[in-house]
Amino acid sequence: MFIRPRRNRKSAVIRDLVQETHVTTNDLIYPLFLLERPNATLEVESMPGIFRLGIDQMLMEIESCMKLGVRAFDIFPVVDEKHKDKMATKSQDPGFFYLKALRRIKQEFPEACIMSDVAMDPYSSDGHDGIVDENGVILNDETLEVLAAMSVAQAESGVDIIGPSDMMDGRVGYIRQALDREGFTDVSIMSYTAKYASGYYGPFRDALDSAPKSGDKKTYQMNPANQREALYEAYLDAEEGADFLMIKPALPYLDIIKLLKENVQLPIAAYHVSGEYAMVSAAAEKGWLDRKTVMNEQLLSIKRSGADIILTYFAKEFAGQQD
Ligand code: PBG
Repeated sequence: MFIRPRRNRKSAVIRDLVQETHVTTNDLIYPLFLLERPNATLEVESMPGIFRLGIDQMLMEIESCMKLGVRAFDIFPVVDEKHKDKMATKSQDPGFFYLKALRRIKQEFPEACIMSDVAMDPYSSDGHDGIVDENGVILNDETLEVLAAMSVAQAESGVDIIGPSDMMDGRVGYIRQALDREGFTDVSIMSYTAKYASGYYGPFRDALDSAPKSGDKKTYQMNPANQREALYEAYLDAEEGADFLMIKPALPYLDIIKLLKENVQLPIAAYHVSGEYAMVSAAAEKGWLDRKTVMNEQLLSIKRSGADIILTYFAKEFAGQQD
């Protein structure tokens, strides 16, 4: 035998020399859940170790993440039922706690990258990403107006990246035009390009109390069976002016990440979603998996498949781990 692949695995140094993929904290975006009450901390039951935070706590959390090298954050509001309505009105109210908090965070941490989420569901009394008519139909074009106004309001709060997670047709172009019209040509769009109608969002909907009141999201989120459709969505988003393309969830869709990476020139992000985090946490709590090993393996696999950026609830833990 002349050829022995094991020679390249014989010591830690050699293994490191031949390692093809690396995850660094520079690749990570940390999703955070914001509470209205300024001084509050509330653990997400289905996501042990992840807390919904009031603005005071969130500023401290961001500071401690920055010290660990995590510098990009995606912030989601937890909206009380009393503020919700059919048109997601609060999403555009500059006096509402989410927009005020975004402004405050950007002021305190101008060097951080702040991403915000654009979709109606956290503010919608229907729990859907778009406007729901009397027959339960999600109205695409009417929703675009709301999404554009929400995006402009978030841009006015100083965010660096807008993240449309709603999957309405034409929204990237519509939002891009609205931002440019208002002078926000520098605000980026990370489009949720291939967002699948997934069972893995459950814990997130618990965290935000944002589950649909009726029906499901299958008329706008994608069918998990489809691959070519993701490529089609990617071309459209690129044409409409997206700066980054996102695939979501991550691990069940590594083939989609690879496909988009190979076919589109834009940076590719993958959202390692709440259910993926919850599965690892639950199994590790039972002692069935080693949390740290599986966390690192999962993040590495997502990068190996072609993701440049990973949104993950493990961001802080990854950054803080000792080797
Ligand atoms: C809202 C939104 C969702 C997630 C991000 N933005 C939930 C959904 O579409 O129902 C899920 C994130 C996660 O599960 O971690 N449009």
